[in-house]
Amino acid sequence: MRNEPAKRPVVDLYRFVLPALRLFDPETAHGITVRALELGLAGASSELDSPRLRIKLWGKTFSNPIGLAAGFDKDARVINALLSLGFGFVEAGTVTPKAQPGNPRPRIFRLSDDRAVINRLGFNSPGLEPFVEKLRSRNPQAGGLVGANIGANRGSPDPVEDYATGFSAVAGLVDYVTVNISSPNTPGLRDLQKEQALSGLLDRLVNIRANMVGDSVPIVVKIAPDLDDDEVASIAQVVLDKQIDGIIVSNTTVARPPQLRGRHRDETGGLSGVPLRAPSTALLAKVFRLTGGRIPLIGVGGIASGEDVYAKIRAGASLVQLYTALVYEGPGLISKIKHDLDALLERDGAANAAAMIGHDVQGL
Ligand code: FNR
Repeated sequence: MRNEPAKRPVVDLYRFVLPALRLFDPETAHGITVRALELGLAGASSELDSPRLRIKLWGKTFSNPIGLAAGFDKDARVINALLSLGFGFVEAGTVTPKAQPGNPRPRIFRLSDDRAVINRLGFNSPGLEPFVEKLRSRNPQAGGLVGANIGANRGSPDPVEDYATGFSAVAGLVDYVTVNISSPNTPGLRDLQKEQALSGLLDRLVNIRANMVGDSVPIVVKIAPDLDDDEVASIAQVVLDKQIDGIIVSNTTVARPPQLRGRHRDETGGLSGVPLRAPSTALLAKVFRLTGGRIPLIGVGGIASGEDVYAKIRAGASLVQLYTALVYEGPGLISKIKHDLDALLERDGAANAAAMIGHDVQGL
């Protein structure tokens, strides 16, 4: 007789919980989910990852390349519970230096027919102090890696200084830091993607890092999917020049593809989920080409299956992240994605996921 796994399986529970959560408005449903994770009610995956999914990056080993994207655990409250669902890594934040409430509610909208979400949260954040406290008190034995995503306060007189403050506070506590300059919901934030502004911002952070003791934490820049070709090229150049460690492609889009059917499609905010998949994967391939595969890329946008992950890897991603699909499919999706990705790699005779990075990108 097989021993029962000690941890509660994830899949069955959510078959019942998800439809119930759907009865609440999205932000309330999210609050309930985070609370359940905090109370240890959300289950855990007891499966070991296939060695084919293991990937080494920045001198660290990711047991699988599937991460939780920023915005789910903005306050770093449930990192370990999320890791135990089977993610290879979790990105907490975006955190701003000072606490701020974000935009008025409602500010998250489900577009269920499109398997999409529009959000205009606007960096609701507890501020750095409680965020850092959560990171400090986390049991690091949980396995899996952790990123912190930093942003600027709305209306900040000196956004670069906000990033400097955030970076200094979290750098020693995480496996990488994401510089989020691509949220559409904080006025002016995306201007930091412009060549000169980005260059100044990254100089400042690299400088702070150079003066820190201990290991040098990887710095990763998260970009928008709404950039034109010149803007993408100049970001790639700046990131290469400054020897930044990675680029996350991409944040949510302000575009509204004509095929959207959900009644909330005209709400202001950033669109995520399936309609973002093709444009963000196309941008990923473009960035991979522009950087010649010399910088690790994290592919995000519309991932809902093992096939989708595989496509991002072949377009140049070393790691991937997802968020919106979790809203619709529940955490059982993570295990399914890992199985399917492993089967696809086996089908293609690939030794591991890393062997397929950028496989589809021509012209290198
Ligand atoms: C996000 N996203 C996000 N990104 C970020 O860098 N900082 C943040 O605080 C947030 N907040 C946030 C809230 C909500 C409700 C959503 C749906 C998304 C963007 C997210 O990390 C990711 O880049 C996009 O959602 C695209 O991936 P998916 O959702 O299509 O898998």
